[in-house]
Amino acid sequence: MKTHTIFGGFWFFIITIILTLLQLCNGKVFMEYIGATGKPVTMDEVPIDDGIDFHFILSFAIDADASGNPQNGIFKPYWASSLTPESVAAVKSKHPNVKAMASLSGWSLDSTTLRWYQPENSQTWISNAFKSLKSIIQTYNLDGIDIDYENFPKHNESFSYCIGELITYLKNQSVISVATIAPYRLTTIPYVQLFAAYGGVIDYVNHQFYTDKVRTTEAYLEDFQLRTAQFDKEKVLPSYEIDGRGIQGEAFFDALHILEENGFDINGIMIYSADASASTNLTTKFYYEQKSQEFLLNSSRV
Ligand SMILES: *[C@@H]1O[C@H](CO)[C@@H](O)[C@H](O)[C@H]1NC(C)=O
Ligand SMILES: *[C@@H]1O[C@H](CO)[C@@H](O)[C@H](O)[C@H]1NC(C)=O
Ligand SMILES: *[C@@H]1O[C@H](CO)[C@@H](O)[C@H](O)[C@H]1NC(C)=O
Ligand SMILES: *[C@@H]1O[C@H](CO)[C@@H](O)[C@H](O)[C@H]1NC(C)=O
Repeated sequence: MKTHTIFGGFWFFIITIILTLLQLCNGKVFMEYIGATGKPVTMDEVPIDDGIDFHFILSFAIDADASGNPQNGIFKPYWASSLTPESVAAVKSKHPNVKAMASLSGWSLDSTTLRWYQPENSQTWISNAFKSLKSIIQTYNLDGIDIDYENFPKHNESFSYCIGELITYLKNQSVISVATIAPYRLTTIPYVQLFAAYGGVIDYVNHQFYTDKVRTTEAYLEDFQLRTAQFDKEKVLPSYEIDGRGIQGEAFFDALHILEENGFDINGIMIYSADASASTNLTTKFYYEQKSQEFLLNSSRV
């Protein structure tokens, strides 16, 4: 009798693990940038559905000192100081489906425009980046990195090599489990080069559709066809900018339905940003976050 109970408990345990893994594999992902404006935004106020593989993308970790001078691969966190290691731990313990990531670079640091630069020695840059990011990732209990370099010099071959090797190294040392890239309208070429060489270690493409000057559902579909042809159909996520550029309002959800009707699997959605949502004075604060997650749950049921 006793062995039987233990045996039963064992199988219950194994089945629970298998079900959890299946849920994670079939899971839809939701990604939201947070912390770029420096306003004291918190993760607590963002609605999180426990059926979604939810990613907060902390913005940004930057290879620069406070004046914007490059540091040869030594990254430091510059996201809102309200996003502490304790707050990441708290949201993750409340919601086991939450992951947190560090986005690298972004457009600017205060008034200094940030750009990719060719390191004098690629190996040194990769090694510095690995060590500094590992330390940030461990301090903040993060799960991954997002690549958001937005400005490139004319000769940028080393971008693909340095970033691709960095992601590979962080993954094969189990420092991170997830990596994403965030191309926009004018940076497709270097990101296509990176994806062509290192797509195997890149989980999702957070293409910034709101930079593509696309405002109608028909144009959104054409744009989605273009971007999925440049990258991987399964990895490109539709995206939305709160109070921003591109398609706005309910038309975004109409566009998502049209993508599905045209045979695309919507594996996730990216939103920029929690900072903007937190400062809307509408009664529908965080409406797009909530409705996007509802859309993803609806579409995973069919
Ligand atoms: C560098 O990136 C730009 C786009 O930002 C692209 O036009 C150019 O072809 C790239 N150069 C090399 C050498 O990869
Ligand atoms: C991990 O990735 C780095 C960078 O590509 C590579 O140099 C190293 O050999 C890899 N290590 C293992 C154990 O795969
Ligand atoms: C919030 O309200 C102020 C004052 O009524 C207005 O100027 C501003 O545009 C509003 N912002 C948003 C995001 O609705
Ligand atoms: C999700 O499905 C419910 C029930 O069919 C529907 O009422 C709701 O509008 C759907 N939500 C979205 C965002 O598609």
